[in-house]
Amino acid sequence: LAENTVSITVVGASGDLAKKKIFPALFALYYEDYLPQHFTVFGYARSKLTDEELRHTISTTLTCRVDKRENCSDKMEQFLRRCFYHSGQYGSEVDFCELDNKFKEKEDGKLANRLFYLSIPPNIFVDVVRGASRSASSPNGWTRFIVEKPFGRDSESSSELTRCLKMYLIEEQIFRIDHYLGKELVENLSVLRFANLVFEPLWSRNYIRNVQLIFSEDFGTEGRGGYFDHYGIIRDIMQNHLLQILALFAMETPVSLDGEDIRNEKVKVLRSMRVLKLDDVVVGQYKGHTKGGKSFPAYTDDPTVPKGSLTPTFAAASLFIDNARWDGVPFLMKAGKALHRRGAEIRVQFRHVPGNLYKRKFGTDLDKATNELVILVQPNEAIYLKINNKVPGLSMRLDSSNLNLLYSERYPREIPDAYERLLLDAIEGERRLFIRSDELDAAWAIFSPLLRELEEKKVVPELYPYGSRGPVGAHYLAAKYNVRWGDLSDSS
Ligand code: BG6
Repeated sequence: LAENTVSITVVGASGDLAKKKIFPALFALYYEDYLPQHFTVFGYARSKLTDEELRHTISTTLTCRVDKRENCSDKMEQFLRRCFYHSGQYGSEVDFCELDNKFKEKEDGKLANRLFYLSIPPNIFVDVVRGASRSASSPNGWTRFIVEKPFGRDSESSSELTRCLKMYLIEEQIFRIDHYLGKELVENLSVLRFANLVFEPLWSRNYIRNVQLIFSEDFGTEGRGGYFDHYGIIRDIMQNHLLQILALFAMETPVSLDGEDIRNEKVKVLRSMRVLKLDDVVVGQYKGHTKGGKSFPAYTDDPTVPKGSLTPTFAAASLFIDNARWDGVPFLMKAGKALHRRGAEIRVQFRHVPGNLYKRKFGTDLDKATNELVILVQPNEAIYLKINNKVPGLSMRLDSSNLNLLYSERYPREIPDAYERLLLDAIEGERRLFIRSDELDAAWAIFSPLLRELEEKKVVPELYPYGSRGPVGAHYLAAKYNVRWGDLSDSS
């Protein structure tokens, strides 16, 4: 049997994502000995660079984990020697043919596997796929393409993109990344549910009152306004990152851990979800704000954002899954930029204890006494369960405390970046964490009518100050379902 090689091509090598995430993730995999023995990394972009120039740019962004600093610079040197650059037009088959020649030289007659990471704007996805698949596909091994959102702007444009990609590729070759699926605590969600007796039996409308999926960033679009304005927060975060978490959270038990079994269950739950209506959402946009003598810009102050833009930088939504397990349970999502803090979390609020003997001790605010399971996806990764207990002493006073699995204490080593896991999975052909096309269709079906209505009716977002907690409308939305948003401040 011939030995395997893998050539990894980062198309759009001079872009931000490539520099900040992809090359560092590849290096981390190399450093940890996860890459196959024979591998080569190619940067592909239009600018004319030499191999040395690419190596120099990459080298400024590579890091070693804090606890693994020995041999770091030697390893970096060795890794960089395996990195090459090829300058080419994105739509040129001739340029991809030249790349193919370079591949062959490095592959040296071994079995050739080829991975293309499309770190480029979506309007050139198809050009690159056409050129690369026709002129630089592996003659004897696999050829895979990693693509990253945006996968269209709605159901129609997403289906059109899928249709075009499938003119050149089969579904098994397409790896649609949602980097939230590569995050450690999102991966742990299934372990938590399916490897512990104490959670899965409670995982339904019988015990769960509501589920909250919250994403918040404490900075604005800062220079990315051009991209962002075309999409808005619902397409940027909710339709993908938060919805993917929701699907993993709410799916039925899969037949096995096989990628197809898991994705089948995710599709089922997505297809059971109610299509969102205007009444189910609140949209917001941040406005300028001055605090402590420092001023923070409004979204529309970003020079790349059109004046008078109505694009939401914040949204809250109530979603429902119309199946036997989740009937009537609100899944509340909230996502926003330029808020008071950065974080992503899943909050599961349980029902009240029926006939609670300690009701009088809790006073009237029984909400505060309900159990809550919180999964802090980032930062300060943790899983904690809020329980009620007695304050030690002779009197009967009740308190609420957290049973807390704080990752930094339990696992002091650094948590790998999401891109490391996803790149490794793509190399190994593990599809569990990538989005299948029917999943994508089901996800768009929930959001597309709402997105169209927001645009057609030119719905004006509620303004909120940069650095605040977001529009008050989000609280009214939650209150409709008798829900109060959880807050990180209670994680102590
Ligand atoms: C991206 C969005 O998908 O995720 C960005 O396009 C957002 O707007 C980013 O900032 C957040 O990712 P992370 O991993 O930093 O939470």
